[in-house]
Amino acid sequence: MNPKIKQNFVYRHPKIYTIYLRCSYPFRALSKRLKFISSIIGKQKTVLDAACGPAHLYEYLDRSNTYSGFDLNKTFIDYANKKYSLSLEIKDVTDPKSFKKSDVIVLLDILHHLDKDKRKKAVSNAFSNAKKIVIICEPFLPKFFRKKSFFSKVSAKVFEIFERDGFNHVTVEIGLFEEELENNLINFFDANIDKSVWHLKIHKITGYLVGVYTR
Ligand SMILES: C[S@@+](CC[C@H](N)C(=O)[O-])C[C@H]1O[C@@H](n2cnc3c(N)ncnc32)[C@H](O)[C@@H]1O
Repeated sequence: MNPKIKQNFVYRHPKIYTIYLRCSYPFRALSKRLKFISSIIGKQKTVLDAACGPAHLYEYLDRSNTYSGFDLNKTFIDYANKKYSLSLEIKDVTDPKSFKKSDVIVLLDILHHLDKDKRKKAVSNAFSNAKKIVIICEPFLPKFFRKKSFFSKVSAKVFEIFERDGFNHVTVEIGLFEEELENNLINFFDANIDKSVWHLKIHKITGYLVGVYTR
């Protein structure tokens, strides 16, 4: 962990992180998203969950899949490995060596934590290693963040405090509004990828856009 970058209590305690996600408005949103992603993945695939956190996705996947993942947060990784008897690793999503060839590569709720350059690297790594499907699932900023009101300034501060993962400076400025996120999904976040081989479908669900790229 970078000692200069703060980490809030949510990212220090996997159980609190899970409660935080489950209680985030709208209720049951996490479960709805993960069921949806799991339905796209289906059965009998190798799945790499990059920046997996405490591996929530694993609970929703059909057991015929082979799940692997990594994250920089050692507490999350240790917790998930113990809870589900997995072999998740501590690795960086911007490092090509963190990835291995897999049928499905999932980038779930990670890109808004990264600056533009790091996003490009993460996306490029995902597409270079996916054999069949890439799933990018990202929240978009609510419209009120566009306003320069007192409420939006306070909300921005709260947002930034809750997003302190210990590795990145997550701010509203690097976040994306819905149409920006959609354009980024269409443009593969400006990563250098052979776009002609991928077919993209975008789904909107619980304040998130889910880009499903198949080939
Ligand atoms: C919002 S959480 C999402 C976690 C998980 N995908 C989920 O949906 O619950 C963002 C995660 O990204 C991890 N992370 C941040 N920067 C990373 C990096 N460069 N490489 C790997 N993981 C990173 C954090 O530790 C945190 O677990």
